[in-house]
Parts: sequence; structure tokens; C-alpha cells
Amino acid sequence: MRILNYGSMNLDYVYQVPHILRGGETLADSQREIFFGGKGLNQSIALARAGAKVCHARCIGEDGTEMRDYLSQNGVDTSYISVSESSSGHTIIQVDDSAQNCILLWGGANRRQKRDQIDRVLENFGKGDFLLLQNEINEIPYIMEQAHRRGLRIALNPSPIDEQLMHFPLELADYLLLNEIEGNAFTDEEKPERILEKLQRKYPRMKILLTLGGDGCMYWDGSRIYRQGIYPVEAVDTTAAGDTFTGYFLAGILEGRPTEEILRRSAKAAGIAVSRQGAAPSIPTADEL
Ligand code: RIB
Repeated sequence: MRILNYGSMNLDYVYQVPHILRGGETLADSQREIFFGGKGLNQSIALARAGAKVCHARCIGEDGTEMRDYLSQNGVDTSYISVSESSSGHTIIQVDDSAQNCILLWGGANRRQKRDQIDRVLENFGKGDFLLLQNEINEIPYIMEQAHRRGLRIALNPSPIDEQLMHFPLELADYLLLNEIEGNAFTDEEKPERILEKLQRKYPRMKILLTLGGDGCMYWDGSRIYRQGIYPVEAVDTTAAGDTFTGYFLAGILEGRPTEEILRRSAKAAGIAVSRQGAAPSIPTADEL
């Protein structure tokens, strides 16, 4: 069983700052590092490091070929990545002393995919395969509709949140992996239990993973709700913690592991990612769990 991750690839410019900048403020003398990231790339790396067979699809610019090579060195099939005229996506990330971050995202090539390219990629996948999507690329509703028509199972991580999310055909998703803020946007509810309840009622066949930051997560598998706490660590950088959880979670589903074990492994992997700097480089291999 294969998983096709149609997802963003970004160069992350990460600045270590004493505090996240306020409007009008200028801060000099910060440290900068450049990491490979993007929710798509991070989730492909997490899937591959968890042992899944993953194919990554998307556009990069001429400046992004190292990201493609990085995926491929990590065992990801990169034959569906194309090079566009636009430069690659990038982010400006501030990480403060308490390991919190804020991210400015420039979509670049991530938002340049055309429908005929999407059709050519999806032609190679069918019933039994999985499609994974996040919200950093263009044409998501089209990709979901075409994948559904071909019988792929769809896992959607609607992150980061924005207005276009409200127009996604959520009913086509088999798995929805979201955080409380996204859950609130979809349901107008604050309490995790109420968010899950409303989503369950609206999309009865959907399995829902709701992540709750420091409170762990809740998972509705279609018949019952599971809860999983976090593994506390000394936090260095929370970037890609959610992506790590998502990758490990889906890899566990593909492998058919028991649900409790999947959640435990995903929480451990996310904990390790939080204890390290950067996005993709912080994601552990299965051996490290
Ligand atoms: O989820 C973390 C990712 O979000 C970063 O790697 C950054 O590229 C942004 O897309």
C-alpha cells in the first residue's frame, strides 16, 4: 500500500529570537539557520522515517532541487516532483526562548501546480492507495475530487488555517487530522469534545484526529474515542511537531498497528521533534522511539 503526499516543500529561514517581534519593532543580532521544511515535506520525511512507502508530489523552483534530493535520500519516491519557473516556497520563522514559533509563509512554486500535471500524477494511483494533503498548495478541492473518483483514501491535514479551507469538500476525506484552532473554525466550538461531536455528526464516515497541544490528542476511529497524552521534553523548537505526529500516525494506520500503539508512537516521535531544532531534521527515525 502506497501513500501519495501532495504537499508543500519550503526552505525555512529560522531566526532564534528572545521574543516574537511586535508590530513596528526591529530586532537586530539574531541567529539564522536554514532548514528543509514545508508541511508536505516534513510529513513525507516523518512517514518515511516511520517506515512507510511514500511518494511525494508537488512543484519546486530551480532553487529547490536540494529539497528533492533530501527527500530521496530519506527513501521518499520523488518522481512526481516537478520543477516550475517560480522560485520554491519559503518561510521566515521566529523561534523564541520558550520554543514557540511564528511563521510567515511564501507559497511560491507550491501554489503553481496545474490541473493537467495533477491528472498525470494521479493516473499512477488507485484503489487501496492513500492521498495525504495539507493546506499549503493550490487546487486542493480538485485533487480531492479526482483522487476520490479514482478510489484513493484521503487524509487531510487542513493546516495552516485560512479562508479557502471552508470551501474544501471535507466530506471526501476519510481521515481529518486537525488541531483545536482548525476544529473551532469548522465547528464554532471551543471544547475538544464538542468539536469532535459536531464533526462526527456532520461527517459520519470520517475518522478524526484532534491534536490538543500540551494536552495530547483525541482520536475518533469511527466507533470510539481514544486519548493520548504528550511525552514531556525540554522544548527547543515546536516547528514540525504536528507534522511528525501526522506522519507517524498515518504510517501506523498503513501498517495496521493497534490504535493505542499508533497514538503512543506518534506522541513519542512528536516529543523528540520538539526537543530538537528545525523542521525536517528534527523528525526521528523509528529506531529512536
Ligand atoms: O509545520 C511546520 C512547517 O510549516 C514549517 O516547516 C514551515 O515550512 C511551514 O510550512
